[in-house]
Amino acid sequence: MPKNISTKGFETICISDRLPGRTEHFSHVPPIHATSTFVYENAEKAMNVFQGNEEAYIYGRWHNPSYTIIEQKIALLEGFGLDIPAPQAILFSSGMAAISSVVLSLGLKPGDTVLTQGNLYGTTTEMLNTILGEHGVNILYENLKDLTNIEALLQGNKSIKLIYIETPANPTLDCYDLHALATLAKTHGVLTAADNTFATPYLQQPLSHGIDFVMHSTTKFLNGHGNAIGGIVVGTDAKLMKQVWRMRKLLGGNPSPFDAFLLNNGIKTLVLRMEKHCDNAEKVAAWLQEHPAVEQVNYTGLPSHPDHELAIAQMRRFGGILSFELKGGVEAGIKLMNGVKHCVLTASLGTADTLIQHPASMTHVQVNKTQRLQFGITDGLVRLSVGIEDVDDIINDLEQALA
Ligand SMILES: Cc1ncc(COP(=O)(O)O)c(C=O)c1O
Repeated sequence: MPKNISTKGFETICISDRLPGRTEHFSHVPPIHATSTFVYENAEKAMNVFQGNEEAYIYGRWHNPSYTIIEQKIALLEGFGLDIPAPQAILFSSGMAAISSVVLSLGLKPGDTVLTQGNLYGTTTEMLNTILGEHGVNILYENLKDLTNIEALLQGNKSIKLIYIETPANPTLDCYDLHALATLAKTHGVLTAADNTFATPYLQQPLSHGIDFVMHSTTKFLNGHGNAIGGIVVGTDAKLMKQVWRMRKLLGGNPSPFDAFLLNNGIKTLVLRMEKHCDNAEKVAAWLQEHPAVEQVNYTGLPSHPDHELAIAQMRRFGGILSFELKGGVEAGIKLMNGVKHCVLTASLGTADTLIQHPASMTHVQVNKTQRLQFGITDGLVRLSVGIEDVDDIINDLEQALA
């Protein structure tokens, strides 16, 4: 029998593959279960499994051992050191499949309301507006930092069924008070979901604050190498999580076993990578803040950032992402994109190398401009996913491109 590693340290959980979900124990590295379906010894066993009397793998859209191992690992990491019921995790083909499965699992009806922030990852905003909004669910974009207003809204509007939070937010790096929002929501019988992609469970554990659903785009820091798309949902309520799993079964947002394997491979170095991402981002943010071409740097690690204290309270460190506004607006932004030689111009984040992008023309192009500006995603904002290279190479590249 594999040893249950839940009593081990955070780094040990990342690295160890001796989890109860392993169905074989001969290979050091878990194999890729490249199979669409699973077989039974006999008809009686098959009948028992299909009747729900016996647990077994049935079909790849339902389960696969290559998903199980990473689901168990990320559930352990999100619940690490917490005195809460053991979390469960469900792996998806993408962050968006995970997020949309959470909101669809709630069976929201026309007239129900989702309360959220205006500065979400652009595709999440687009998904809420179309998949829910066009079918009669109200999407209420409010400043989730204004807790007095949020309390008044919860008191006055009984149609609110979910508070959806992304913290730190993409790409403004605003932080939202997970504890305060979860507490308010619970008082009013409202569920909460938090996108923890930017932080990872190493830097932030939303379950510790009473959040119901934690989601990740595993495409980012958890995989860490930019070689697979994926998403995951973690929660402690077995009934709610069963509904999320049902969405995977019904909508087919299951990942490929190969992508699950790559995620399990990448997560082994999560702690080392996150520490270095944080070290480098702190240095790059401090350097950018002194640069004459830079109007403002958004990084909660800077004491001048309005969410610095909140980030200290709910995060271990400040993460590897920052954004900054250039004095020259859009033109200066485009000049910088074209000038960088080491930083890679691409839309993603959380990889070992440094990635740069321009939200107004890339990730947030589908978001209404007025809404985008209202929540700080200005035309000249540049997002930097600071990698784990020698930090001097990142700074030197930015310096020559800003010259
Ligand atoms: C914060 C955040 N959430 C969710 C997503 C969506 O994830 P995916 O691209 O894996 O579907 C992204 C993608 O960039 C993101 O940055």
